[in-house]
Amino acid sequence: MKTIRDLELAGKRVLVRVDFNVPMDEEKNITDDIRIRMALPTIKHILDHDGKLILCSHMGRPKGQRMEEFSLAPVADHLAEILGREVHLAPDCVGAESEGVVASMQTGEVVILENLRFHKEETENDPLFAEQIARMADVYINDAFAVSHRAHASVVGVPAHVPEQAAGFLLQTEMDFFHKAMDAPVRPLVALVGGAKVSSKLGALQNMLDKVDAMIIGGAMANTFLKSQGVEMGASKIEDDLLEAARELVSKAEEKGVKLYFPVDFVAADRFAPDAVVKNVTFRDIPAGWMALDIGPATTSYFQEALADARTIVWNGPMGAFEMDAFARGTMAMCQTVASAHALSITGGGDSNAAVKKSGESDNISYMSTGGGAFLSLMEGKTLPGVAALKG
Ligand code: 3PG
Repeated sequence: MKTIRDLELAGKRVLVRVDFNVPMDEEKNITDDIRIRMALPTIKHILDHDGKLILCSHMGRPKGQRMEEFSLAPVADHLAEILGREVHLAPDCVGAESEGVVASMQTGEVVILENLRFHKEETENDPLFAEQIARMADVYINDAFAVSHRAHASVVGVPAHVPEQAAGFLLQTEMDFFHKAMDAPVRPLVALVGGAKVSSKLGALQNMLDKVDAMIIGGAMANTFLKSQGVEMGASKIEDDLLEAARELVSKAEEKGVKLYFPVDFVAADRFAPDAVVKNVTFRDIPAGWMALDIGPATTSYFQEALADARTIVWNGPMGAFEMDAFARGTMAMCQTVASAHALSITGGGDSNAAVKKSGESDNISYMSTGGGAFLSLMEGKTLPGVAALKG
């Protein structure tokens, strides 16, 4: 993959697709700016090499409508503060006015184009729209790992029309870490997978079976697996339509000699509420009408043993409903275990990363991916359209 280091940038209009789709509170304060900070090496490299920096990003899902609550204005302000220099927000991502703003740019200036998804042509990958954006650039850089699984205009259409394209440092780092963990891992490689649904991760689980030495499955998705093996799960969340798929995955793992780890006990509750009645139960004793909402202490030890020898750990998805304190202990324990493991540890997905942050262990994880859907796509073994677009 060609990277930004390979390109001559001085005096050129360098268009960088970033993913500044960051969470904000009601007052439009950015509550987590990690995606902006992770793009700084690329941004600084361009400025240090005398490029004219044009950033473009989506924000939320405004579905082709101009909606002020999805404006990138707070992001432009935030970036200006971090960089200590002016960041000019162009009124749109296409059109004469924005083209004028770009045309008058001097070396070292920073412009951010307004939300790409104010135009439905972005998600439709409309070729004319892509061309309109492309004509504002001499060089295209993709530094938006988190949206590189989307074949959108700014991700795959624009690079086809710009004379030179390459990966930014963030995209390169994300791909390098994932490659190290999944394609050339120091073994044993152990996957820790959780979260609410088997349906959203089935492809990832199937693909990972070909790569990992062991797989730990927790979170609500474990309920469906356990039920498929005949365990009575009370009122726990189950995807009944996936029981067969779960059974198949279990037998496939057996065939391949991949050891699967499932919860052996739970923190169960009479309902999903902070003031619910809660108790620890084994997998055999979930009372009728109760639901499993976190892994229990025996499972925590069992999973910790499974991770003890791991030299590479890939983690996606929490072990329980950790947003409520009563059901956070299992996920927090896994954060500590993964963080203290003598292993290359990689986490991806909004929930797992939020859990790691909550545990205070962020600095002790080898790499926390900025991607959710994109990370999952890689776990599924897919090529990211945004990466493929750079090879042309
Ligand atoms: C994300 O937050 O995962 C990316 O910004 C992609 O957003 P999307 O799921 O709306 O395409």
